Amino acid sequence: MLRTHTCGELRLANAGENVTLSGWVQRSRKMGGMTFVDIRDRYGITQLVFNQESDAALCERANELGREFVIRVTGTVAERSNKNRNLETGDIEILVTELEVLNKAKTPPFTIEDNTDGGDDLRMKYRYLDLRRKVVRDNLMLRHKMAFEIRRYLDQLGFLEVETPILVGSTPEGARDFVVPSRMNPGEFYALPQSPQLFKQLLMVSGFDRYFQIAKCFRDEDLRADRQPEFTQIDCEMSFVEQEDVLNIFEGMVKHLFKFVKNIDFKDPFPRMTWADAMKYYGSDKPDIRFDMKFVELKDAVSGHNFSVFDSADYVGGICAKGCAGYTRKQLDELTDFVKRPQVGAKGLVYIRCEESGSFKSSIDKFYAQEDLKAIAARFQAEPGDLILILAGPERKTQKALCELRLEMAERLGLRDKNVFAPLWVIDFPLLEWDDETQRFYAMHHPFTSPNPDDIPLLETDPGAVRATAYDMVVNGIELGGGSIRIHESGLQQRMFKLLGFTPEQAEAQFGFLMSAFQYGAPPHGGLAFGLDRFVSLFAGLDSIRDCIAFPKNNSGRDVMFDAPSELAQAQLDELNLIVNVKKQ
Ligand code: AMO
Repeated sequence: MLRTHTCGELRLANAGENVTLSGWVQRSRKMGGMTFVDIRDRYGITQLVFNQESDAALCERANELGREFVIRVTGTVAERSNKNRNLETGDIEILVTELEVLNKAKTPPFTIEDNTDGGDDLRMKYRYLDLRRKVVRDNLMLRHKMAFEIRRYLDQLGFLEVETPILVGSTPEGARDFVVPSRMNPGEFYALPQSPQLFKQLLMVSGFDRYFQIAKCFRDEDLRADRQPEFTQIDCEMSFVEQEDVLNIFEGMVKHLFKFVKNIDFKDPFPRMTWADAMKYYGSDKPDIRFDMKFVELKDAVSGHNFSVFDSADYVGGICAKGCAGYTRKQLDELTDFVKRPQVGAKGLVYIRCEESGSFKSSIDKFYAQEDLKAIAARFQAEPGDLILILAGPERKTQKALCELRLEMAERLGLRDKNVFAPLWVIDFPLLEWDDETQRFYAMHHPFTSPNPDDIPLLETDPGAVRATAYDMVVNGIELGGGSIRIHESGLQQRMFKLLGFTPEQAEAQFGFLMSAFQYGAPPHGGLAFGLDRFVSLFAGLDSIRDCIAFPKNNSGRDVMFDAPSELAQAQLDELNLIVNVKKQ
């Protein structure tokens, strides 16, 4: 070994020992006849001391060390006179007697420190240097710990980790596929899996009973802070279970992680909310319930006052922001601009200030008397000092905008504390959603999700009203995971494909193997998948999942370090029988 200890290991108890350390030069400074060098590795930082008086030549060589040089030193551990409480090794330093430069380094393009001066693009281009920073490394260490605890929990419960293929067939549902040309089968393509969904169901048919996999998934979709084109799922499936069993086992897994990784004990069962209630009270299928501020519907209370905005709207609803009655004109204008942004989509904002005096001041005073405003405020159980904010318009669109406004107000009120965690299950999702553009139903979860048995008779008569046996785990407004009880009979699966507009031939061509498998004794089964990247970034308090992925893509789906994707050489294209016909922009 090129070292006796790591750079994070030595303490006062080691004083007097002769040790050898290897690592990178974090920084060096010359003070009088002494040169101090901080040496860093994955485990920490240790201060090295070179003394001009005891060895002038050695000290001279130390003065020539640049940032990020890789060095090896030998010396004696000594107690520090001015201790550094911010460093775990801050009680000691090494009085160096030997120095070897293992490798020189160019000056890095940004400082390797927690608060680096490097912008996003630069850090991604030199990600291997960015990963030397403690803050980034800590995220990956957390990721390792979580993956380890997940495996431990699931192994104890008899789950088997089985790997499934990365080169699979393309399926038409869900997001767009990434595709890979096949050289041996000219003109044919594999797709990369959007999830191991079909394979895990087949493993249930094979009798594996309890499966899991920490699996890479690939989706060609528009990217956001919580979406990467390749990401990792904790993918799970179980046989002979009902929804309740799946929820219990995986609520247990989430609690296990909170306890062993975050030291947070959730004693009570996680709350459950139907999809319909989540939409009604929070305008979202992933409500952030760290704070209240539920929607109050007002259509019946506000109609008939000659205020055409409310009279003509399908939906009128609002929220009550505690203690915000003092908002100035300017602040209210800001909020109006906020709700009018295209991504929020409201036409305007109505406010009612509940003044300390007990009277009301609103932007609709012309249409509503004090008594009317009082009655509206009562619906919110508003108190003097509160501010009521109201939106009106088409139902879903307005609920969505009100959801954004609720989150914005919570942000302003400091109610979205990253150290507070509010998990819940959202259940009873609709089975199907109608798409106006293509005039057809799509599976809300995926085409293998079982309808709620009570609603099966509605499948052909009122498909939009059928509830699915599907569930999502939501924490702090983030969809961490989701799954369902699956259809395990080929007859019901065929009815589902028909509803989704597949002809029997198309269904056979796409999913024939699954339908065929179901004819050989498929057990009732169900499962779910969590997004590991989202889970880790939630625990680490990150704003983007990129920061917990060792080598992520940027928002245009590029790996700027590799410079991928990139063009292929003509010879490679020829070998694959591909002709590229892309107009460069
Ligand atoms: P779903 O599509 O809901 O379900 O995905 C499960 C979880 O994966 C995470 N996730 C993502 N994370 C990062 N980037 C992405 N682009 C991305 N897309 C999804 C989310 C999500 O909750 N096969 C089903 C699961 C099942 O039914 O068992 C599935 O893939 O956290």
